[in-house]
Amino acid sequence: MALWRSHQVTIIAVFIVAIIVLFVGVYYNSPYRFASSQAWPKSPAYDALSWTFDPVRDSRRYGLNQSQCNAAFAKLWPELDRAGHHQDKTGKITPNSSSIAWSRQGTLYVLEVKGCTRSDFRERSNAILLSIHRALIAYPDPVPNIEFSFNIEDIPNDEETPTGITWALTRREDQQHLWLMPDFGYWSWLGDVVGSYERVLDKIAEGERLFMEKDQRAVWRGAGLNEQRKTLLEISKGRSWADIELIVWDDDPDKRKGMLPIHDHCRYMFVIHTEGRSYSGRLKYLLNCGSVVIVPEPLTWMEYFHHLLIPDGPRQNYVRVKADFSDLEEKLNYYLSHLDEAQRIADNSVATFRERYLTPAAQACYWRKLFEVWAAHSFEPEMYQKGKEKVWRGIPFETYM
Ligand SMILES: *[C@@H]1O[C@H](CO)[C@@H](O)[C@H](O)[C@H]1NC(C)=O
Ligand SMILES: *[C@@H]1O[C@H](CO)[C@@H](O)[C@H](O)[C@H]1NC(C)=O
Repeated sequence: MALWRSHQVTIIAVFIVAIIVLFVGVYYNSPYRFASSQAWPKSPAYDALSWTFDPVRDSRRYGLNQSQCNAAFAKLWPELDRAGHHQDKTGKITPNSSSIAWSRQGTLYVLEVKGCTRSDFRERSNAILLSIHRALIAYPDPVPNIEFSFNIEDIPNDEETPTGITWALTRREDQQHLWLMPDFGYWSWLGDVVGSYERVLDKIAEGERLFMEKDQRAVWRGAGLNEQRKTLLEISKGRSWADIELIVWDDDPDKRKGMLPIHDHCRYMFVIHTEGRSYSGRLKYLLNCGSVVIVPEPLTWMEYFHHLLIPDGPRQNYVRVKADFSDLEEKLNYYLSHLDEAQRIADNSVATFRERYLTPAAQACYWRKLFEVWAAHSFEPEMYQKGKEKVWRGIPFETYM
């Protein structure tokens, strides 16, 4: 078929300050794609949809159809719209500007893996692949054929086109060429300390208490000090409003200090977010707490859902403080003497994040929207190895795993 023009397969390896960046080329498709132009279902008639999202019933349904995703998560797509607009300006993604892959029947094909020398990189990339696979196999409808690479480093590559267009966990404002994907923590993170995302949500639910009955202090735990974290430790030392401690990490669980399981943060009225080496995966957990999330701003590193954070007004869903925390105490004092306002912010965060945009269902919808928008801005992938008839490129996801 004319669909399969031959072209050079490009595989990209990028090195950043001696750290190897991982790229996994992955491919998938649907059998319908070959038969006709029917790929992703056309624009949904949301108005006609009698279905509405019910967090109790639907929050763990990974297979919502496209109309349901659009109806339930109408505000989830700005980051993908942005990446698409950027691509419109800079031209279609070509094989040269991304890594390569192919598939069929909703299964993934892994084309190339780079830099998987560290076990944590391997864990991260597997978690991403499994999340993608989950979003695919739960979904009843066709998806477009795409080929892409993703990068699981904390600090994604700075290289602009033509070689740097990839999916990343985070980006700085100026890294317009990166397409944000959900964090590996939506599968699982740090086995015995955090665990699978759904299990964290279960534990938060199990330990749930009324907002007014929460510990009135502000909590933070972290390892690995950057300047901001150092400042936080200094200004909170000995303060009655703070339960803020450094974690001393050890592979031996008995030797660890300052550990506080992520769901136990939710016992506190105020939970403090900080960035780490780049973004911090903690924010998505904190926003599930039903507590007041405190965010020092500006944040340098964005994740795909950050545009949903609202700093003021009736829909305010977190509290912003200065990057050096100089107004933290003042803000805490304010909310401690206006607990009803604090509760409203916490309730808004539950409605926006826990019961809507950070549900597993929303995350699967985001993946599929990413496939769709990427497909609209990208080349048609090659199915077979160059010059070889019927020899598929890559290896099946199942074999890779
Ligand atoms: C999606 O599911 C809803 C609810 O079951 C249904 O009404 C709608 O027709 C479905 N849409 C598509 C495009 O399959
Ligand atoms: C892809 O990159 C290679 C090497 O940089 C270059 O020689 C080739 O012309 C590029 N191909 C396309 C289609 O841009």
